[in-house]
Amino acid sequence: MSDIAPLQQEIELIHPPAQFVDQANIAGMAAYRAHCAAAEADYEGFWARHARDCISWHRPFTRTLNEDHAPFYRWFEDGQLNVSYNCLDRNLQLGNADKTAIVFEADDGLVTRITYAQLHAKVCQLANGLRAMGVGKGDRVVIYMPMSIEGIVAMQACARVGAVHSVVFAGFSAKSLRERIIDAGAVAVITADEQVRGGKSLPLKSIVDEALAPGGCEMVRHVVVHRRTGASVPLVAGRDLWLDALMAAQPATCEPEWVGAEHPLFILYTSGSTGKPKGVQHASAGYLLWAALTMKWTFDIKPDDIFWCTADIGWVTGHTYIAYGPLAVGATQIVFEGVPTYPNAGRFWDMVGKHRATIFYTAPTAIRSLIKASDKDPAVHPGRYDLSSLRLLGSVGEPIDPDSWRWYHRNVGNGNCPIVDTFWQTETGGHMISPMPGAMPLQPGSCALPLPGIMAAVVDETGKELPHGQGGILVIKRPWPSMIRTVWGDADRFWRSYFPAELGGNLYLAGDGAVRNDETGYFTITGRIDDVLNVSGHRMGTMEIESVLAAHCDVAEAAVVGKPDDTTGEAVCAFVVLKRTRPQGEEAAQVATALREWVAREISPIAKPKEIRFADNLPKTRSGKVMRRLLRGIAKGEQITQDLSTLEDPAILAQLRDAQ
Ligand code: WTA
Repeated sequence: MSDIAPLQQEIELIHPPAQFVDQANIAGMAAYRAHCAAAEADYEGFWARHARDCISWHRPFTRTLNEDHAPFYRWFEDGQLNVSYNCLDRNLQLGNADKTAIVFEADDGLVTRITYAQLHAKVCQLANGLRAMGVGKGDRVVIYMPMSIEGIVAMQACARVGAVHSVVFAGFSAKSLRERIIDAGAVAVITADEQVRGGKSLPLKSIVDEALAPGGCEMVRHVVVHRRTGASVPLVAGRDLWLDALMAAQPATCEPEWVGAEHPLFILYTSGSTGKPKGVQHASAGYLLWAALTMKWTFDIKPDDIFWCTADIGWVTGHTYIAYGPLAVGATQIVFEGVPTYPNAGRFWDMVGKHRATIFYTAPTAIRSLIKASDKDPAVHPGRYDLSSLRLLGSVGEPIDPDSWRWYHRNVGNGNCPIVDTFWQTETGGHMISPMPGAMPLQPGSCALPLPGIMAAVVDETGKELPHGQGGILVIKRPWPSMIRTVWGDADRFWRSYFPAELGGNLYLAGDGAVRNDETGYFTITGRIDDVLNVSGHRMGTMEIESVLAAHCDVAEAAVVGKPDDTTGEAVCAFVVLKRTRPQGEEAAQVATALREWVAREISPIAKPKEIRFADNLPKTRSGKVMRRLLRGIAKGEQITQDLSTLEDPAILAQLRDAQ
């Protein structure tokens, strides 16, 4: 058992168990500090050493960091490599050919295992297939697939031929998919007939067909379809083909495309503070390096571990800690197709026991919903399952509240598994701030300290570093290898969003607020400082939802804010003004349902407003600006203490407060 030592009345520090420290990749605070000191003393030397260690280079690099065109940093730029070679062939050379790479569990419980040699063969076949279709270096390929071995194969095959993948989460609507296909200029789409989640089949191919409707997607020459359920889906002659047929015709070896270190590996769209999602573009070597190194440091990965990250490949967590990181270090991982609540809310715990998972990485929103479920039904309480294989737990995507943290620690980790609360973002490529589990004590609700080599700080609006204890803006002071390289097709937006002139132009702005503990220097993330919401760990721009609502034929105006929610973290709350009289009672409920469906259709069901309130007008200042802070207060049900003298029509307030 770990000992719980109260350092001060308010800080509860939980030390890692001695047996964990003894075997840890970073064992003890002195080891962590030594890594940090090495980075401080010789920043480039530090990264160069790890890049030589973690990556098999086709041509070694001679220059570590090029800052000439900051903030467009270039890492290891004259080196050449292939990311898929590093994830697969490197493992075959290291004697991992017959090691299980992936234990895949389908929604219905069916388990498929695949070794590194088999995965390598599949990736080579698809890579050859892509080449045969004329897809090669620099071409963009959109992947719209369920959680599957084939989804990972598709990503790796793109990397193998130097194509740039853009995975679109399979919950996005045809319209969102279409926007992303067009923005990326994709030449091919890889999808499945259907996906299966929670016992239900949901269409995918027909959504792709809708997304590819004429008028803008003509550059898509091929659609490759994985047969998941065998549902009958029409193929468009000359454009569509089955994945199995494409692969079966190809040899199981494939010379990788050697690319420069800075060659784009992928684009992943994420929400920002404007209506248009941004295509976060990552580079090959720097991203791979950090995926591998964080597997070793944060997850303390060892050859015998069974690693399980429950994220979807449609999000960055599923990129770094499913499709790349675990393979780059030759780990065995579990990949799960389904949802945590099917056939019941004990599914995760059942799977941990069945597959003897040793490292389990999930999102606070899942933990919170499983806490609720097990309060209701003790049969699905983790205590009912054999979780004895676990040695390390992780959390990602949003702040984890100390109560959920303690529940997770006690009931899932049996009080003796460290929890790594990993703070990072699509843009950072991998973990930025997280406990090193064998090095430092944990503090529930805090993500502890920056990883070695990551120079994080809390600053004020002018970029001046703040003393501990004072809340401010989270920034990263120096470039790091796995950072975003640009916003696809919009270098200006990259510069403005992430290196704003107000902060001096050389600090990476995370977009989150943070505060450091007086005593320990530990970071606590206080949430987004921009118009981005985090619902169940999914990032969503309020402007994106607003513009979709405003595009509905009945809507005159809409404003969207976040509201705290004890399951999803935050919930979407929309204030809507219709073009006709404000609806009330039954009519209001009907219009609200119609608007929710509209948002689901236009963006994704994950963006549906939980609450819609109708009013005759939105609260605005005399200059016409919507008073968002006021709306946030109203959504939370707070007493309004704000100065309302600038409000154009104070009577609107009562309406917004009462309207439901
Ligand atoms: C939030 C997910 C607190 C944060 C990897 C960030 C967190 C955004 C944490 C990125 C954490 C992620 N504690 N907040 N451990 N992890 N966040 O791009 O607001 O989907 O900016 O990347 O999630 O979300 P994204």
